[in-house]
Amino acid sequence: MANIIDGKKIAAEVRSEIAAECEALKAKGVTPGLAVIIVGEDPASKVYVKNKKKGCEEVGFHSEVYELPENTSEKELLELVHKLNGDDSIHGILVQLPLPKHLNDEIIIANIDPKKDVDAFHELNVGKIMIGNYDFLPCTPAGVMVLLEKSGIDVSGKECVVVGRSNIVGKPQAMLLLHANGTVTVCHSRTKDLAEVTRRADILVVAIGKADFITGDMVKEGAVVIDVGMNRKADGKLTGDVDFATVSQKASYITPVPGGVGPMTITMLLKNTLTAAKKC
Ligand code: GUN
Repeated sequence: MANIIDGKKIAAEVRSEIAAECEALKAKGVTPGLAVIIVGEDPASKVYVKNKKKGCEEVGFHSEVYELPENTSEKELLELVHKLNGDDSIHGILVQLPLPKHLNDEIIIANIDPKKDVDAFHELNVGKIMIGNYDFLPCTPAGVMVLLEKSGIDVSGKECVVVGRSNIVGKPQAMLLLHANGTVTVCHSRTKDLAEVTRRADILVVAIGKADFITGDMVKEGAVVIDVGMNRKADGKLTGDVDFATVSQKASYITPVPGGVGPMTITMLLKNTLTAAKKC
């Protein structure tokens, strides 16, 4: 049976470090501030936004949540982004994705001041990550790296396989594993023999959004398996992209869902907001 990586515990440790740094910054007259914008009524996004606000309160940050109606125009949303770009009490701006179909994510993200882009989605920040000279790291992949580090798992020289190639997780995850000197393969929907590739992994990171997709027969004995998935089953229960029951029999380390990667994502958002506030 694999060791279970306790994301809640590791997130709590990192959050207490952030809270202490926030306290010190406040003593110098700066309160880290995060603005979160949500457009429309997507229920999952509403839960994420509520948790981001709660996370801010926990570590002593100032937070503002802007809940805009589904029919908000691009012009109205850009006006708000520009206002927040110029607001000295706000160090981080996050526009919750997905946006309603009539709004173009790329245009909106490109208008966030890169110094306040705590998601690290702006093309300037994406480019900086590529060359390894960055201020912010995208929250979920950065959280995965912290989980590995705090669990004593060295990436250097390891076969790392990332399943999924999204801009939010798969692609930046591959880059961060590469920066840590892993040998990285990225799999996706057109990969010919997925199981043959995943079985090579010493470290397997799965982010495809398909419930219980990776099964025990697709994993090497002793692999480290990180499950970024967050899927809701018909009975309402949360499950990851990894079939925990079979994979935990073969893995040396595994993250559970919930309680694995999830708690780290908001923690890294708080860390990025702190970094932005320190630079102001
Ligand atoms: N939607 C799902 N994950 C994320 C995230 O990390 N950032 C933003 N802005 N939207 C998301």
